[in-house]
Amino acid sequence: MRVLVTGGAGYIGSHTLVELLGQGHEALVVDSFSNSSPQALDRVRELTNGWFESEEADIRDTDRLTAAARRFRPEAVIHFAGLKSVGESARRAVDYYDVNVAGTVSLLRAMDAADCRRIIFSSSATVYGEPQYLPFDESHRIAPTNVYGQTKAMAEQLLTDWARADEGRAALLLRYFNPVGAHASGRMGEDPRGVPENLMPFLAQVAAGRRDALRIWGDDYPTPDGTGVRDYIHVTDLARAHVAALARAQAVTGAEAYNIGTGHGVSVREMLGAFQRVVGRDLPHEIHPRRPGDVAEMRADCSRANRDLGWRAEYDVDDMVQSLWAWQSANPYGYGAPPQEG
Ligand code: NAD
Ligand code: UFG
Repeated sequence: MRVLVTGGAGYIGSHTLVELLGQGHEALVVDSFSNSSPQALDRVRELTNGWFESEEADIRDTDRLTAAARRFRPEAVIHFAGLKSVGESARRAVDYYDVNVAGTVSLLRAMDAADCRRIIFSSSATVYGEPQYLPFDESHRIAPTNVYGQTKAMAEQLLTDWARADEGRAALLLRYFNPVGAHASGRMGEDPRGVPENLMPFLAQVAAGRRDALRIWGDDYPTPDGTGVRDYIHVTDLARAHVAALARAQAVTGAEAYNIGTGHGVSVREMLGAFQRVVGRDLPHEIHPRRPGDVAEMRADCSRANRDLGWRAEYDVDDMVQSLWAWQSANPYGYGAPPQEG
């Protein structure tokens, strides 16, 4: 299929591109590079023989997007482009609504102009908010507790209404749990700007000597070891879920939501232990008070994705940590150069 990939230079987008090209799909990447580097696309070229092109553009530029879509004539869109930091979303609320919601409106207008009727959307487990029960299934109440989550819930609603407004349209809403790890080659991975907010990139930077110590946000949760439990999913498994979703989008109409995780909960201490085993030494860490807004546990029921997409996560925690460490140790400053001293 010809697939337009927004945000294809980003962490999840670039890994998905490798899987798409490997399966014989063709792609047009549209990315503003506001949170990524064109080098990620060079690495994709290095790892695959597939055909893709890229265009530097903002998804809010409807005219540019429409021209690109009319020229490329995509049969489907995978929509990764967006702002994704929970903490930042409170401070930059209008920007988050603008990119994540208005940006999606702009994309749908361009798709309509090019008569493209299928979209796979990067949603998040954060749309569920405080768990009423675990594991989360897709019928769980949607009640986000932060601005970022609100923008994802609104985009989901928008896509659902778009899909219902005309026959033959399909919107697949993939609710990712905690994507981690890197490509098995060690050539691609997550490249966060500034101080990482998330556990795994922070831990990797502690192991690489770029940060002093991991701060464990709370060890008094009602979990087996007191630290927060999450459903971490290897980014390559997540990437493959998009390829499976593309096939599904050819066969169905309307809107469908899917949890994408492993179904297994892993605590912060367990992750730290796995990382220490891989690097072969203790990593400095400190216990701090709980981080505001965090929940004790998040875990997915992925049976719908297993059944309807014919997809299942294959990688385990050791694979996640090993691949992340291979990427981090070979590319201590990600795709960029080390910061200038002095
Ligand atoms: P990322 O920041 O690495 O990738 C997003 C890409 O979109 C970047 O390449 C960025 O330059 C681009 N972009 C941002 N704003 C744009 C705009 N206005 N126009 C064009 N391009 C723009 O993030 P990621 O981790 O790869 O996440 C991809 C998607 O998955 C996002 O929508 C994110 O909200 C969602 N998601 C991520 C996680 C996670 O933990 N990483 C979890 C759940 C959902
Ligand atoms: N944690 C630490 N120290 C850190 C960072 C995190 O102890 O330096 C802990 C957190 O308290 C939590 C766990 O590690 O218990 C995971 O935290 P992350 O920040 O890595 O991930 P979250 O589960 O908080 O959120 C992530 C994304 C959201 C997304 C959500 C989906 O940041 O965008 O997963 O489940 F919505």
